[in-house]
Amino acid sequence: MNVAPPADVVRRAAELRDQIRHHNYLYYVLDNPEIPDAEYDRLFNELQALEAQYPQLVTPDSPTQRVGAEPQKAFAEVRHELPMLSLGNVFSDEEFEDFDRRIRAELGEATVTYSAEPKVDGLAISLLYRDGVLIRAATRGDGTTGEDVTQNVRTIPSVPLHLLGSGYPALLEVRGEVYMPKQGFERLNQRQEAEGQKAFANPRNAAAGSLRQLDPRITATRPLMMFCYGVGKVEGGTIPDSHSAVIDQLKAWGLRGCPEQRRVEGVEGCLAYYRTLGEKRDALPYEIDGVVYKVDRFDQQNRLGYVARAPRWAIAHKFPAQEEITTLLDIDVQVGRTGTLTPVARLEPVFVGGVTVTNVTLHNQDEIERKDIRIGDTVIVRRAGDVIPQVVGVVPSRRPADARRFHMPDRCPACGSEVVRLEGEAATRCTGGLVCPAQRKEAIKHFAARRAMDIDGLGDKLVDQLVERGLVKDVADLYTLTEEEIAGLERMAAKSAANLKAALDKSKSTILARFLHALGIREVGEATAQTLAAHFGKLENLMQASEEELQQVPDVGPVVAQSIHAFFGEPHNRAVIDKLRHLGVHWPDVEPAPVEEQPLAGKTFVLTGTLATLTRDEAKARLLAAGAKVAGSVSKKTDYVVAGESAGSKLAKAEELGITVLSEQQLLEML
Ligand code: IVH
Repeated sequence: MNVAPPADVVRRAAELRDQIRHHNYLYYVLDNPEIPDAEYDRLFNELQALEAQYPQLVTPDSPTQRVGAEPQKAFAEVRHELPMLSLGNVFSDEEFEDFDRRIRAELGEATVTYSAEPKVDGLAISLLYRDGVLIRAATRGDGTTGEDVTQNVRTIPSVPLHLLGSGYPALLEVRGEVYMPKQGFERLNQRQEAEGQKAFANPRNAAAGSLRQLDPRITATRPLMMFCYGVGKVEGGTIPDSHSAVIDQLKAWGLRGCPEQRRVEGVEGCLAYYRTLGEKRDALPYEIDGVVYKVDRFDQQNRLGYVARAPRWAIAHKFPAQEEITTLLDIDVQVGRTGTLTPVARLEPVFVGGVTVTNVTLHNQDEIERKDIRIGDTVIVRRAGDVIPQVVGVVPSRRPADARRFHMPDRCPACGSEVVRLEGEAATRCTGGLVCPAQRKEAIKHFAARRAMDIDGLGDKLVDQLVERGLVKDVADLYTLTEEEIAGLERMAAKSAANLKAALDKSKSTILARFLHALGIREVGEATAQTLAAHFGKLENLMQASEEELQQVPDVGPVVAQSIHAFFGEPHNRAVIDKLRHLGVHWPDVEPAPVEEQPLAGKTFVLTGTLATLTRDEAKARLLAAGAKVAGSVSKKTDYVVAGESAGSKLAKAEELGITVLSEQQLLEML
């Protein structure tokens, strides 16, 4: 039975819809929520409950109606009333200067105002709003005809189902880019892999694949975002008379603009923007492949008009490519510290992402099979920012007839021991243990690393020699080396030997966290080592801990606990630790506070810049000991940012998010 909702319920539902829209806008568009999630959930649940009680209340643009449509059979075709154009490209400052010169000549102006904005790597979408309600969303397709992806686009939180404010034209077509942020992309791929699904090659493919799902419920699980960069058809109303003013207007109507969009003057303004954005590129939360410059004034745009399928008033200035193709010449196998055999691709050198790449890890046999990589293939190599280069896939049409499949060897290439691959593990391992010189070398390199024992001057080549000549069998042997022994190595002399000996002596004075990290316990990286040190305070306590006790430590699960327990249970490892301490390796014990007295329990800190009295490690160790968490990047979850000398983007981010910033002095007082 359908009872008509009473007037006060109708009013309340409308009020809730408005409030939720407002908070959605603050959260997803401005990235600046003003109420806690729990309060938002209450509003949302209240509306859902009212709508469940009185289904007549449900409007298609209600915030509860983002997901829900049944899977579709296919996408309907959409003919764009105004074609969706593409952009011309330039690849150098000079080419852009030519573009600007032509524009100025045509307009008879000495200088032109441009809008500069990132060229975000996603896919172009058209949104159609009638009387403020989203009625259709379509892909660009070939520019004339696209696909109707309304049900999918409705699931993107930063796309308003109903515009905010007033004064919008009766019919308004908004255009912009749908993309997947880098972080969401990484997480999606981890999820895909965990579920045995194919990983996406890059965020753009992931965004396109997600929008082309026939089931909008799947799209709803994908972390898509949209930013708007223009308008198409406008009827029954007007819009401002410049591009930048239109973007501001769209933002006021609740649509998301790109936060990096700027109005700039002339060539100099454009090129300065290009350089600044290039420097920021890796730190941006989404992928971009260049800058788009648009003549800002619409009257000037109209005078310039179009050529073929691109406007003459806009151009894309591309950044150097982050993906290139090259030939995979061979696959070698390297043996790591824990005996893992890693296949490494030897490539025909290729310049990509600003460096020449010749070797790329292929991780393991499964990875090679999943990507169907064969020796001789043409492969796509990607290097984005500081991320290690990777082979994202092959170009099947360029596979030579004699391309060969790769197989892991049965025996370790370093020591000839048998290799095993355990049930359920991706890695193939050498069973040689410390007999295997490759494992020994890697364990020693890890021990000496800057973030472990920090033995200055003990480089990879020296470690290789020390192991090959039988001078060092385990890490403790490093401290019994004599200057004469060191001086006898290739490329070493009395002076460099004395320096290394001094560095070895200096490294003996360390902190527990570094020592634990240096031991190279499987599953225990730098962060876990720090947490363990803060929790147990003394090495003896940690060595005696049971698996259950270990699991009490934050972020230590059963696998990590088992690995730590097994490591200290091994007599050989205990002997090496004894020997190290006997030879003078030492650290101060940290007194761990009982949990109930931890003053900073549950608080997340981010450290940035150089502190005056504490090193980063010390500050971190003390925070951990006080029960705080220390994160690497600033997010809404951060409670405090501690800023030292020349703090950079993290400080800016903290200020943007309104997070409390502490000086070193304030931190010390808190501690
Ligand atoms: S404007 C008439 N602005 O680049 C100009 N496009 O090569 C139409 N894109 O299909 C596009 N960021 O998918 C414009 N800030 C931006 C953009 C952008 C990315 C994409 C868009 C378009 C393609 C053109």
